[in-house]
Amino acid sequence: MNTDLVKNIKEQFQSNFKETPLMLFSPGRINLIGEHTDYNDGFVFPAAIDKGIVAAINKSNASICKVIAFDLNKELNFSLEDMQPIENGGWKNYIIGVVAEIQNKGKKLGNFNFVFGGDIPSGAGLSSSAALENSVVFGLNELFDLGLTKKEMIFISQKAEHDYVGVKCGIMDQYASMFGQKDSALLLDCENLKAKTIAINLEDYEILLINSNVKHSLAESAYNDRRTVCENAAALLNIKSLRAATENNLLSIKDQISEQDYQKVIYILQENQRVLEAFDALKLNNIERFGELLYASHNGMQHQYKISCDELDFLVDATRDLDSILGSRMMGGGFGGCTINIIQKAFILEFSTKIKKAYKSNFDTECSIYNVTISEGTHLI
Ligand code: GLA
Repeated sequence: MNTDLVKNIKEQFQSNFKETPLMLFSPGRINLIGEHTDYNDGFVFPAAIDKGIVAAINKSNASICKVIAFDLNKELNFSLEDMQPIENGGWKNYIIGVVAEIQNKGKKLGNFNFVFGGDIPSGAGLSSSAALENSVVFGLNELFDLGLTKKEMIFISQKAEHDYVGVKCGIMDQYASMFGQKDSALLLDCENLKAKTIAINLEDYEILLINSNVKHSLAESAYNDRRTVCENAAALLNIKSLRAATENNLLSIKDQISEQDYQKVIYILQENQRVLEAFDALKLNNIERFGELLYASHNGMQHQYKISCDELDFLVDATRDLDSILGSRMMGGGFGGCTINIIQKAFILEFSTKIKKAYKSNFDTECSIYNVTISEGTHLI
């Protein structure tokens, strides 16, 4: 965790409100493999990271709630009696949404002050939004003794994103951010929210993220469209979600959907299998096989689910012939953000220099490179 950030947020709170706040950290996440499978009741394999949101919170005697976004130097004031989404409200809707959903559950809140800041670049696909949502619900739960369980909290965060932000996300990001465990990844079954943890030790290899630093504007609507394709296919198959489908079942609806949608559905079924195989490969310390599955996952997202973009494909392609990189794929919702790479430790420096240069000359934009430390989920500091 970024101790300077913690200090800054605390000082900002104290100088504004003349009180000592409750401090908390809520992490972002990576996902080893399993994209867009979460809202199909499938498998994902995320982990919380040491970057995220630091927040300071306390009760207030004022007649409104006050929120300060430290990094943006912006403020939001609102009344608990009037909790409407704000048009083009950006970060504000994550906060309003969580507060509203807590109230919708019949929980009683009082006014509060909240200061937050983060060290995840937004748009990087590292779930700064889930980290923010979880920081709000976790902080309010502590402050007002709401008695919410962690599971209830993540569903509140997710609902806020559905109804106030308009992204029909699955549960992976909120789960990973809330339940993350230090040095371990979580194989999460999104059908029943049961997880198996596995210590991540890649020996001579390491996880390296490369941020394309692009986020194409269609990302949110394309995300929701993909979800609709999957739900329609499940409805045609007369099942609750694609989790219950097999490639064989799918043949029965092949004539009722377009070839493109058919490929999308196949992708989901295959990606679920890849997640399970990836977990087994890591259990057996078979990092080579794990890496191959990452490439297969990227191919599926590029050609079948169609959520990649030129920048991400370029970053993945640049690794394909390198012996020191075992696997690479785009990570998260798609259309920008990061790739995740399994790279030999000794090769990181050389590769970073090369890829930065190549990316810049191809796209006239810088890419950014991050090491990852796997950390604990949302907690008080
Ligand atoms: C976003 C969503 C998640 C998940 C991923 C793709 O991060 O918030 O629920 O669907 O995309 O795997």
